[in-house]
Amino acid sequence: MRITIGELKEMKQKGERIPMLTAYDYATAKIIDEAGIPLILVGDSLGMVVLGYESTIPVTMEEMLHHTRAVVRGTKRALVVGDMPFMTYHTSTSEALRNAARFIQEGGAQAVKLEGGERVAETVKRLVECGIPVMGHIGLTPQSIHQLGGFRVQGKTPEAAVRMLQDALALEEAGAFSIVLESVPSPLSKLITEKVGVPTIGIGAGPGCDGQVQVISDLLGLFTDFVPKHAKQYAKLAEIMSGAVTEYIAEVKEGSFPTSKQSHTMDESILAELEQLK
Ligand code: KIV
Repeated sequence: MRITIGELKEMKQKGERIPMLTAYDYATAKIIDEAGIPLILVGDSLGMVVLGYESTIPVTMEEMLHHTRAVVRGTKRALVVGDMPFMTYHTSTSEALRNAARFIQEGGAQAVKLEGGERVAETVKRLVECGIPVMGHIGLTPQSIHQLGGFRVQGKTPEAAVRMLQDALALEEAGAFSIVLESVPSPLSKLITEKVGVPTIGIGAGPGCDGQVQVISDLLGLFTDFVPKHAKQYAKLAEIMSGAVTEYIAEVKEGSFPTSKQSHTMDESILAELEQLK
């Protein structure tokens, strides 16, 4: 049985912190699900850490659905959230509804996430009315990176801080079951967390949120183009992979791989017969 949005809300009420991670493929999803992660985001960060794009903006619905299906197949317990890509929920509510429904119906996700506060509240309300759980995302919203002028901490001026609180309240009012706070000063995210009844999930938003989300490739030290300030590397997989591949190359070149352990035998008499043939 998968975690439900009701159970996440109960976790907030009990003061139980919520760990969340991104995943993009079957094998990783299976490992983190079995490790006990309750909430998995198939993030559009996929574009940068898996597909090699410069930002999340080029990511398409088809790419997101492809990876969402893989993650869902790898999980039994975690609630899987599909991240709605750039311009798939902006042009009209019906377009947003159609795309969100694809995440649930074709992707197998249990919820969707979209970026924005008050400006997307009507859309969130409609999706929720149609039975689609929605996670909000405010603060640094990477799909608006050109408008924000870079990956900067948000909510530092009094006006921006008030706007962010209003955004969080508007999302809660619209029915969002949880809100991601990205790159937000710790005191502001703590205050927002206290003001809203739904769990806040922080990334670069300090310890005062109800939960934390990290990009799995940052956490595992797999994506090394850059390491964001908010990321902590719990492993250095890129180094481990590079070491393993270097060893493999050397062993193939010197002929020490494969050994009999990785090889198959056959009946000696068949071989003898073959050797008789011209
Ligand atoms: O796409 C993503 O991975 C995200 C998280 C950083 C919250 O939106």
